[in-house]
Amino acid sequence: MDLWIRGYRRAMLGLAARDTVKRLSLRYGSRLAGRFVAAPTREGALDAVLKLKAKGIAATMDYLGESVGNWEEAAGSRDEILRLLQAISDRGLDAHVSVKPTQLGLGLDPEACCDNLRMIAAAAREAGTFLRIDMESSAYTQATLDLVRRLRAEGLDQVGAVVQACLRRSAGDADKLMEEKIRMRIVKGAYREPEDIAYQKNGEIIDSYRTIVGKLLDAGFETAVATHDDRLIRWVRTYAESHGIGRDSFEFQMLYGLRTAEQEKLAREGYRVRCYVPYGTEWYPYYTRRLAERPSHLWLVVRNFWK
Ligand code: FDA
Repeated sequence: MDLWIRGYRRAMLGLAARDTVKRLSLRYGSRLAGRFVAAPTREGALDAVLKLKAKGIAATMDYLGESVGNWEEAAGSRDEILRLLQAISDRGLDAHVSVKPTQLGLGLDPEACCDNLRMIAAAAREAGTFLRIDMESSAYTQATLDLVRRLRAEGLDQVGAVVQACLRRSAGDADKLMEEKIRMRIVKGAYREPEDIAYQKNGEIIDSYRTIVGKLLDAGFETAVATHDDRLIRWVRTYAESHGIGRDSFEFQMLYGLRTAEQEKLAREGYRVRCYVPYGTEWYPYYTRRLAERPSHLWLVVRNFWK
């Protein structure tokens, strides 16, 4: 099973990188992406956040974009995220914001990317909300953690990191981040990584995930458990119950459009649930990572297309 899923993922990520596939996907754009992307516009995404709120689910909003090729694009992303933070504050929403460093120029110049992030983090503080710096491929792991630490050292406390359980380094990173009191979202990891730095088998990734989350929960450390995997969700629930850890001391996070019924069920049961709500028109890389995660996601898109 593990082997076939790994083969599927490799094939999907390979296909997605082909120009023809990309061109065709972009042509049929919003109908394809609509399954995983809340809206093309900020207003549409804010409406989606309000609908989630009515079901007891909080949000973290993501203006789609990554690996920008020039400073105009990076500045455009920064300005939209600043407008988003203003809108969250104006509407008094419980919405965090998630950003990708390469959308703000990390691949061009780390110093200038830090300037962009600093402006966003300061605006997030002003808006009374939390800024999550998403984790991208391993080429950026250290640089991203450095950025988070730098902002925190400058007193921008409401900034957090993401730790990918698939990376062999992550247990050590999580220990250090916990010592530094930097809040973490734990994910399996969405990027294809080589064997010398990353676990390849799902069982190994799950073991790593449990080790990291178990330590954080034991320490009473505010943790975001980001997964759709029933095995992990069940494990976290049981672990918390058997260790006397309250349902409000951690948060489940899932992606927009995935396992909606499970998100609502957890919220009804008194767990904190936060949904990752992406919006915008730069949806292609995000969307192909979702398709690569599971064959059933491909089916969801096909069904959506013919509706
Ligand atoms: P995975 O796809 O491994 O599936 C395992 C099992 O879960 C399936 O066999 C099935 O039982 C169940 N399942 C999964 N999807 C289902 C569905 N739609 N319906 C029914 N059952 C389903 N990655 C990254 O590298 N950097 C980041 O910053 C982030 N950020 C992030 C935020 C949030 C809120 C989430 C939820 C995820 C991320 N990720 C991420 C993505 C993450 O690394 C990972 O790729 C995906 O969450 C997929 O792994 P899962 O553990 O969710 O299940």
